[in-house]
Amino acid sequence: MDQELNGAMRSVSINSNGLAATPHLNGHSKDEPDNVRRVAAEGALSASASDAASAVSKATNASTAAAAARAIPAAASFASTATEAASLSGLAGASDAEKKKMVHELCQQLLLTDEQVQELCYRILHEIRRGLAKDTHPKANVKCFVTYVQDLPNGDERGKFLALDLGGTNFRVLLIHLQENNDFQMESRIYAIPQHIMIGSGTQLFDHIAECLSNFMAEHNVYAERLPLGFTFSFPLRQLGLTCGLLETWTKGFNCAGVVNEDVVQLLKDAIARRGDVQIDVCAILNDTTGTLMSCAWKNHHCRIGLIVGTGSNACYVERVEEAELFDAQGNRKPHVLINTEWGAFGDNGALDFVRTEFDQDIDSHSINPGKQTFEKMISGMYMGELVRLVLVKMTHAGILFKGQDSEVLNTRGLFFTKYVSEIEADEPGTFTNCRLVFEELGLTNATDGDCANVRYICECVSKRAAHLVSAGIATLINKMDEPHVTVGVDGSVYRFHPKFHNLMVEKITKLIKPGITFDLMLSEDGSGRGAALVAAVACREDIVNSKK
Ligand code: BGC
Repeated sequence: MDQELNGAMRSVSINSNGLAATPHLNGHSKDEPDNVRRVAAEGALSASASDAASAVSKATNASTAAAAARAIPAAASFASTATEAASLSGLAGASDAEKKKMVHELCQQLLLTDEQVQELCYRILHEIRRGLAKDTHPKANVKCFVTYVQDLPNGDERGKFLALDLGGTNFRVLLIHLQENNDFQMESRIYAIPQHIMIGSGTQLFDHIAECLSNFMAEHNVYAERLPLGFTFSFPLRQLGLTCGLLETWTKGFNCAGVVNEDVVQLLKDAIARRGDVQIDVCAILNDTTGTLMSCAWKNHHCRIGLIVGTGSNACYVERVEEAELFDAQGNRKPHVLINTEWGAFGDNGALDFVRTEFDQDIDSHSINPGKQTFEKMISGMYMGELVRLVLVKMTHAGILFKGQDSEVLNTRGLFFTKYVSEIEADEPGTFTNCRLVFEELGLTNATDGDCANVRYICECVSKRAAHLVSAGIATLINKMDEPHVTVGVDGSVYRFHPKFHNLMVEKITKLIKPGITFDLMLSEDGSGRGAALVAAVACREDIVNSKK
């Protein structure tokens, strides 16, 4: 849950001219603090005696009983051999140039070579094909779910719609009025989903959603109206139609009991019926990637891919119906259908092991869903800050950063927020203003300019790797579609707020796509909200056409 929003309710009103900024997620992990970690021994960088020394000194410096209690057993276990102690005690005293070299060497494992990225493209394509084909789908990691969305908006969609947006760092209810000339009015309200509901029962979750919806309708004077609703539900959904979807698995820190394998539209309708106070027509359920694609396609008719790089990561794209073997077309002759790849699960079968690091394994083993969402855990905002923190802890305990002096905050899981990565990388070259502000929040008081430069480099390696992984996925989709020009609609806090993510992606995708194809990346204006209204509107448009036949 986004810390800035946790426990708070915010009201946002935007229109087509003014885009309300999404508050930055912090990538806060749900894990328990684990202040002194064992770090695998690896040559000169292994954490052993120096960890012991710094852990003890931390206990003294922090002068808290808790820190001391954690430090002493760690000290005993890390001080394994005299040789290690000798080699590591020298690191804190190494020159700036030597430290920089060590940082760069350790970060080597985070950099993807051109060959590795190319290999990733092959493997992603292979997994996408397995997801699309009937025979291999049950065992595929990248499920490529059929969305049942076959029509992109044509700009003629009009009317008043409700939308629900569940799946990021917060839950929103929206009232959207689509108007002429690609104009729209939108009012929305963010509601917190308390942690106990995120991991409580499905009934509690949907009752909470229905209650927020009812309150929202009352506040916006539409309580007595019967309105169509689009439900953006950003989790893997096995769709059986536009208004029927079974949850495959929870991701991103959610784990509500009794929802997996259930139709979430029905669960929503049941919760609304239990209240009995409002009248809603649920016209469509969709993923946030679908919403993003639709929202961009409303203005840009080349849009064929929707991408999210936020709390989670995923992409959807326009596929030919012949390729989508699981699509039950029921006499429908339209040539295309949107596919929700759910690429976050790529690598769950080991396909990413050749590029995964000890830090990725650590993230996974401490997550709420070990062994799942491997690709997502290397990319998205829920994990990026934590990845950086793990590298920092390792280097600090080895004496390479901060003269070996760590802090309680640095040692606590989830407290190096993903927004810090963007902030640190936003400093002008040679200046470390944001970086030092971040260090202050982390309680790191001993940093030299050399430390700042090294920390920035670590952030750059982690975020660049994420951008290159996403680029491999997008280039694979662009090459598969094989259209002369493709616009990719993009949303999500990492893409939106990281200062270099966009450029890193443009550069990498350009190198990976077939000669002759061109592309552009378009920031989506609230795909989860406006996109939901558009999917609902397109569905209504179809209903009207069909009823006239
Ligand atoms: C979910 C996807 C979603 C993505 C971005 C992932 O964890 O499985 O359905 O599109 O996050 O929000």
